[in-house]
Amino acid sequence: MAHLDISGLEVRYGTVPVLSGIDLAVERGELVGLVGPSGSGKSTLLRALVGLVPPAAGRVVLEGKDVDYASKASLRGLRDHAAIVFQQYNLFQNMSVLDNITVTPVKVRGRPKAEAEAEARALLARVGLAGKERAYPDQLSGGQQQRVAIARALALKPALILLDEVTAALDPELVRDVLDVIKDLAGEGITMLLVSHEMGFIREAAHRVVMMDAGRVVEVGPPSQIFDAPTEERTRAFMSKIIRH
Ligand SMILES: Nc1ncnc2c1ncn2[C@@H]1O[C@H](COP(=O)(O)OP(=O)(O)O)[C@@H](O)[C@H]1O
Ligand SMILES: [Mg+2]
Repeated sequence: MAHLDISGLEVRYGTVPVLSGIDLAVERGELVGLVGPSGSGKSTLLRALVGLVPPAAGRVVLEGKDVDYASKASLRGLRDHAAIVFQQYNLFQNMSVLDNITVTPVKVRGRPKAEAEAEARALLARVGLAGKERAYPDQLSGGQQQRVAIARALALKPALILLDEVTAALDPELVRDVLDVIKDLAGEGITMLLVSHEMGFIREAAHRVVMMDAGRVVEVGPPSQIFDAPTEERTRAFMSKIIRH
């Protein structure tokens, strides 16, 4: 059974359909890249999956359980399994790195503080930030802050991580460190959906790529297909543009 199974998913903003008939099954541990022109619905798909935008129709099954987006209890259960990280990392500026990572596990989940802190230290080491526990966000570079945001998401032990252009706001020389963290996670069995303009990274790290346009899935395939030999004209047109510019 797929780890995440999306079928017939529809989202509307008001009466305007933004996602239509999205079908996608993702295996456990798979890294799926989402590509497509601006406005094609990539962010909306990630936001809908975690319940930030209510779907108008369709079915989402995560870890064998139907997600009921109308039920608070089901959404709480979902947030135990799925985390989303955005371009703007939104760390709490008045809290140390360690507190940023432990606040939700301790205050919301009731985890013992010492245990949460030990885990946070291990996570910081994993994202290459050992020794930054006591730093405040404004003492870190954008790339370091984004890695703290990823560590904060990991502290919730999600089985599914959704990453929406997490490197888009970073200076070019800081991008690689964040991408390396993402690649490591993919090797550890965490299922990931990744929206990114880093086509080289998607080609190298993604197991499959989803091409979206106008709120629909146009084509799904391995990177070699989507980048080098797309079956759909729309994918071909998109790829020829991004490679040239
Ligand atoms: N909060 C919103 N209200 C109304 N329309 C929105 C909102 N957010 C996004 N849209 C529209 O939904 C479509 C898909 O947007 P989005 O999911 O952000 O695309 P992408 O991430 O692929 O650039 C676009 O036409 C966008 O203008
Ligand atoms: Mg977007």
